[in-house]
Amino acid sequence: MIKIAIIGFGTVGQGVAELLIKKKNEIEKKIGEFKVIAIADLTGAILGDFKLEDAIESRRRGKLPENREAIDVAEKEDYDVMIEVTTTKLDESGIMYMKTALRKGASVITSNKSIAVALTDLLKLAEKKSAKLLYEATVGGAMPVIRLLNSYLALCEIRSVKGILNGTCNYILTRMEEEGLPYHQVLSEAQEMGIAEANPSADVEGIDAAIKLVILANTMGITAKFEDVEREGITKITPQAFKVAMQKGYTIRLIAEVSKKYLRVSPRLVRINSPLAIKGTLNALMINTDTAGEIFVAGRGAGKFETASVILSDLYELFRTRNS
Ligand code: HSE
Repeated sequence: MIKIAIIGFGTVGQGVAELLIKKKNEIEKKIGEFKVIAIADLTGAILGDFKLEDAIESRRRGKLPENREAIDVAEKEDYDVMIEVTTTKLDESGIMYMKTALRKGASVITSNKSIAVALTDLLKLAEKKSAKLLYEATVGGAMPVIRLLNSYLALCEIRSVKGILNGTCNYILTRMEEEGLPYHQVLSEAQEMGIAEANPSADVEGIDAAIKLVILANTMGITAKFEDVEREGITKITPQAFKVAMQKGYTIRLIAEVSKKYLRVSPRLVRINSPLAIKGTLNALMINTDTAGEIFVAGRGAGKFETASVILSDLYELFRTRNS
């Protein structure tokens, strides 16, 4: 029986719980029986013999029923894998939960981009404890990239990875391109529609894309920190810039690029017929390799079930060999 602890029970955590209910049979056929033995977040915890439905219901009504701190649950409960889906803050909070699990020899699956500041340490700790850290959900949501680099392309030299790592910016730029509207108008409409956050600065200033780029770089074996990323956001792009670009067969996209030489997030001209001229909130990446040529991937970079589906994919990856 696989014992799972879920730390963080907001949108993604609840999405994971809903998929674990909905896909229980398929999951168990592939990796064997599992049980969520604990869920904890800032509102409290639920432990022992409980139904996932009840946990979701109680969280929706306000809080989880037991008065236990997530770190205490992470330290004291007995689980094989921690699903760490707390909110990304570039500090130690999420990392503390992950380290606690790994030190006990439990594996960790996370969607928390905070790993950008500690990926190498966390991977070393996991190896030392014969555990695993899986983090496909941190970069590009449902778009596959981490396992693609680590596994499918493991024996290729990755020359560069470049593309779109922020759906909010891509949505804004797409509408500026298609409707000739100014940045601030599209931003406020995107906020009204719930696509852009009330405080959009992490997205529109390229911070979110830069964090994801750092995770990609370190996955590729390039030691990099957030400060190493040359970064410019999309706030200064005008409808006029689009007009000039379009006349020459180009559009403008916020492109994140990592190679051995540099890490950069900036608005760049992209040929209108390039796959990277992708529209809407999608994410997309072009991976340039020595022997496999160019590989293009695209997908939904965010969303409750999209992110939860990737967490399930990591769960499968972690346990798939156990039954064979
Ligand atoms: N704010 C992010 C985006 C969400 O717009 O892509 C996923 O990290």
